[in-house]
Amino acid sequence: MASHQLLERVLAAHRAGQRVHLAAELEAALPAAQLRLLQAVAAEAEAAELPLYMVGGGVRDLLLSRPVKDFDLVVEGDAIALGQRLVRKLGGRLTSHRRFGTAIWHLEGLEGDVPAAIDLISARRERYAHPGALPEVSFGDIQQDLLRRDFSINTLALRLDGGHFGRLLDPLGGLADLAAGQLRGLHDRSFIDDPTRILRILRFAARLEFTIEARTATWLGVALPGLGEISGERVRNELTAILAEAAPSRALAQAEALGVLAAIHPALHFDDAMAASLARLPDEVDPLWALGETARIDLAYLLWLRHLPAEAGLAVAAHLRLPQRVSEALVAWSGLAERLPQLSAAAPSEVVLALESAPDLAMAGLAVESDDENVRELLANYAGQWRHVRPTLNGHDLSRRGLEPGPRYGRILATLRAAWLDGQVTSPDEERALLDQLVAVDD
Ligand code: CTP
Repeated sequence: MASHQLLERVLAAHRAGQRVHLAAELEAALPAAQLRLLQAVAAEAEAAELPLYMVGGGVRDLLLSRPVKDFDLVVEGDAIALGQRLVRKLGGRLTSHRRFGTAIWHLEGLEGDVPAAIDLISARRERYAHPGALPEVSFGDIQQDLLRRDFSINTLALRLDGGHFGRLLDPLGGLADLAAGQLRGLHDRSFIDDPTRILRILRFAARLEFTIEARTATWLGVALPGLGEISGERVRNELTAILAEAAPSRALAQAEALGVLAAIHPALHFDDAMAASLARLPDEVDPLWALGETARIDLAYLLWLRHLPAEAGLAVAAHLRLPQRVSEALVAWSGLAERLPQLSAAAPSEVVLALESAPDLAMAGLAVESDDENVRELLANYAGQWRHVRPTLNGHDLSRRGLEPGPRYGRILATLRAAWLDGQVTSPDEERALLDQLVAVDD
């Protein structure tokens, strides 16, 4: 990790007791529109005499020369008041939480390539009434705000208001840990207070290829039972964040090794076969499958949990409150996996009949996992073409022919559709001729 030039230079200066300013680096790292926005917020904070800091992941990523995706802004004082000033001056819209002293400045509609929203947070301290509870919040200074955070590498801050623009704050040794490639918790209760941090540390360790400092690992081990006590939703949010990473298997393998998965649910595991499945997760799920926005994550859970015994997979899905369609796909998985190879020699109408009630998510999963080219082709044909084939004639046409409405309608229309699918009719004229035959036969 110490190969990062910027980090080495900054660390050396910091150790020599020099003040470190990263204004130039920040200016180079942020897209122009975002930088202008940040400068505007800084100017407004200066005018309001509110010390303003960029904190957390943004500073960490800047120092690691990684793309700076987002910035969390912390105000020593009233973040909501700053937000109101910004809206008056620059537009946008504010939503705020009085109790937490936080505001979200929504920027949609503002000119340029600006983020959709910016979080403005009043510097605060937190107290956890009991392990795993949501924290009680009171206002504090930047030091206290940094102390409530998870790992030292996330406690670096850059002051932004006025002449301070770019000045680095490192009260908790984050810089040294960043350079050492190490994740260090700030105190022994960190994971007990907030067990979701157990999954966060594994996510950061995998993403940054950092190690977990020894004492922090001990604290993590002690706090494991807490993961079984917080809600399934909170665990799911963190697992989802892991699955959205570029290399989820690294984090999940470590979670298995440390007993983290068993602490979440006794039936939950991770092994090489699961890693092999997850390695096939595409960057984008084929839009032929009607799966919407959460397609990739739903598919990731399916590729993982489908390896568990059926009951166990469903129990885990229920505990994590995964969407119903993941459970449905888990239920459908093995039957479908067995049937698909047999269907590859079948007529399209037979395929449609067999697959029409199968969940799209399960089929998308098998399309990704199958090594059988025939199966993949079958699924692509089904999703892309066959399932959309309909006869041109409908119930009204049958009624016009003087047929009494009834179950026969369904049978006739299904026969017409099958004829189109299997190439027995290839034009509306042929379809009508077939209908004539069908009507003539009494069934
Ligand atoms: N944080 C924390 N404990 C948590 C969640 C968040 O202490 N359970 C703190 C961390 O200091 C973190 C900051 O809140 O830096 C913002 O959280 P988040 O946006 O999730 O973290 P990032 O570091 O920005 O992560 P990412 O790079 O994945 O966006």
